[in-house]
Amino acid sequence: TLRRVYVTRQIPPEGLKILRKSGQVQFELWDSDDIPVPRKELLQKVKGVDGLLCTLTEKIDAELLDAAGPNLKVLSTMSVGFDHLSLDELKKRGIRIGYTPEVLTDAVAELTVALLLATSRRLIEATHEAKTGGWGTWRTLWLCGYELANSTVGILGLGRIGVAIAERLAPFKVRKFIYTDVAPRPELASAINAEYVSFDELAKQSDFLAVCCALTPETKEICNKNLFSKMKKTSIFINTSRGGVVNQEDLYEALSTGQIAGAGLDVTVPEPLPTNHPLFTLKNCVILPHIASASYTTRDAMSSLAANNLLLGLRGQPMIKELKL
Ligand code: GLV
Ligand code: GLV
Repeated sequence: TLRRVYVTRQIPPEGLKILRKSGQVQFELWDSDDIPVPRKELLQKVKGVDGLLCTLTEKIDAELLDAAGPNLKVLSTMSVGFDHLSLDELKKRGIRIGYTPEVLTDAVAELTVALLLATSRRLIEATHEAKTGGWGTWRTLWLCGYELANSTVGILGLGRIGVAIAERLAPFKVRKFIYTDVAPRPELASAINAEYVSFDELAKQSDFLAVCCALTPETKEICNKNLFSKMKKTSIFINTSRGGVVNQEDLYEALSTGQIAGAGLDVTVPEPLPTNHPLFTLKNCVILPHIASASYTTRDAMSSLAANNLLLGLRGQPMIKELKL
């Protein structure tokens, strides 16, 4: 018999094709990519389902799992992040979790490098000036920024993505890579010749600091005034992980008082960040609407992987990428 599944978003067609062709599931779909399924609708639709395929915009908590009921045994999220999932509640109910690491590493690393350069070389300000009459003449110190050559790049939370970022930055003649994490990760670090340092040393030494950790209770707002106050006035802060790792009031303070030189953020709290948010008033803050994994190839791969994880889970088989609790 067909297993019942709810898909919370019109995901890229590759994944939907896999679900259709499987002959294994009967699925209902929130048929829009432009707006997430409203919570009320979601709570209705999950009733009695065997499986759920979601994205990072759906909060999977006790209320939702209760609404779904005891048939729900497999959750597949089309994301590498899992901070939208109440892991304790899922574990308690014996629900297996699929997610999409690795397939997005290249895209996220690429975007992080793009955001870093856009921030350090002030590209967004520069195009604005060129377009709006600010370009009076070539000037010697106008729109000057900071270069990667001979710099120290710090990585907060060294995983696959941090390594991929460092591999891409190395050819820019970075002098030194440093990182911090809960413990040294020698295998990953040796691939990029990165030195393990304390959190304080990371703040003090980094000319560019890239946040690459997951958002967990331990990392919530670890980027706060304690970190920013130890950074150099010339340093650039980049976050492509989750907005929740940053205290945004403290970041605003650091950027507006010149405590640090600039910040590039692909993630914020909340998302979307209201257009009247103070961070948008700062020239030295480049804000993107959470697009790090947004390449056609990668989103197709994430969609397919999420669908395959779901089907394997429903068959009681090991998933391709399973989050083990
Ligand atoms: C994107 O932020 C993801 O978690 O995949
Ligand atoms: C820049 O265009 C230069 O000629 O130095």
